[in-house]
Amino acid sequence: MNRKYQAIAEKIKKLVIDSEYRLGGKIPSIRDLALTYGVSITTITAALRLLESQGIIEAKDRVGYFASSRVLKDVERHREYEPVPKNLADNIFIRDLATLNQNHAVPLGSAIPADEYLPNRQIQKSLLRAARRTSETLNYWFPGTPAYLSAIARRMSNIGVNSTGSDIIATNGAQEAVMIALAALTNKGDTVAIASPSYPGILHALKMLELQVVEIPCFPHGPISLDTLEFATRNFEIKALCVSANCSNPTGYSLSDEDKQSLIDICKKSDVAIIEDDVYGDIFHGKSRPTPLKALDTDGSVIYCSSFSKTISPGLRAGWIHPGRHYHSIANQKYFLNLSCPAITQIAVADFLDCGTYDLHLRKMRKIYQRNVNTLRDLVLRHFPEGTHCTVPDGGYVFWVTLPYTVNMEEIYEQALRHRIYFAPGSMFSISKSAARCLRVSGSNPVTAQVKDSIRYLADRIEESPHTQTDACEPN
Ligand SMILES: Cc1ncc(COP(=O)(O)O)c(C=O)c1O
Repeated sequence: MNRKYQAIAEKIKKLVIDSEYRLGGKIPSIRDLALTYGVSITTITAALRLLESQGIIEAKDRVGYFASSRVLKDVERHREYEPVPKNLADNIFIRDLATLNQNHAVPLGSAIPADEYLPNRQIQKSLLRAARRTSETLNYWFPGTPAYLSAIARRMSNIGVNSTGSDIIATNGAQEAVMIALAALTNKGDTVAIASPSYPGILHALKMLELQVVEIPCFPHGPISLDTLEFATRNFEIKALCVSANCSNPTGYSLSDEDKQSLIDICKKSDVAIIEDDVYGDIFHGKSRPTPLKALDTDGSVIYCSSFSKTISPGLRAGWIHPGRHYHSIANQKYFLNLSCPAITQIAVADFLDCGTYDLHLRKMRKIYQRNVNTLRDLVLRHFPEGTHCTVPDGGYVFWVTLPYTVNMEEIYEQALRHRIYFAPGSMFSISKSAARCLRVSGSNPVTAQVKDSIRYLADRIEESPHTQTDACEPN
């Protein structure tokens, strides 16, 4: 799946995290690493650069690379960290909803793709063709229209999940898919584990269903810490884990295939159902489509949720769920909730997929999103305070920024909005205190001069805001 240098970077990272290298200690020379791994100097150099950009190692001029003491401290703290179930009560930052449709604001934090990035003309043609088929479009279609379900099953089979239309249920976006999965698996007061930081819609769903949450941190690097997950599953009665194993929102990180298998094994041991949200999986930045957890699932216990909101149109609300062995209970939830999804959009999306231009569109968008993310990351690292850390996404168009100190992010958020700049403060993504000094930045829109100015504007507000020193990765 990974390129060679990425695979080697993973191995070196593991050694750093497992404290094989002394705190702040020197990494072997490039030449020695090339000999150890049997690869070229160029490959090792690329691996070390990647680790440096992730803050795992630090370069010292003419001396070499050193294990980052910051990462090692984070690891120590993480080992001491015990996750506990919490009530979401009123502590979720949901003002984002009010700003969702503020088209006039610079969309620095928005995870909604720009209109110009959607295949508008083709989907319009498909909608017009679908509108002519009134005998099909004017009725209920539960669990979905046959053409849509078959098209989804074909795509699922292409990414390693052998499926037929009868395995799939159409949903109103991935959000509804996650919601009905949670509703089928839990009762009020049950505990659900989530990655932290996590897509805000997961927090909203848990709050709506009155569930308790255990946040599993993503540090030192990845969408979710497997050690903490294992700890949590052994110590609490967790009904389900909600996770994006590929190109997660907001970190952009993916798990390696090996870690995906470990995650499945950990959950299986404690009978924790996995709800996989894979909405960004098709817009990976690497060479090939990352494997969904569902492709590694041998007994139908992974519930796969996705949609075309990030690739075709969020407004069509074209999503789906592959519930595996939970099919009947989840189908009931969907039917009880709203009987079915609109047929016209399903028919149009199936028509669009049949035209064969979707993969071409994805290839184009992957490059654009990756370029946007790189440009924005460079700008943030150039203008934000020294010591700011940005994730290097494996896919999607968002990345997670951690400041070297805590500022009043909500005040900056309000100030920025008054200045018509919308960014996503960390408290939208987690209830842990550490998120207060984080924010999500998004390359879902073209990086215009206005967007560049807004990064500088934020950097200035952060600089002038009173700073509080906090530990690097305090999970609570
Ligand atoms: C990770 C993730 N899952 C789900 C959704 C919601 O997707 P949909 O519009 O398909 O409901 C989003 C939207 O931002 C997201 O980022």
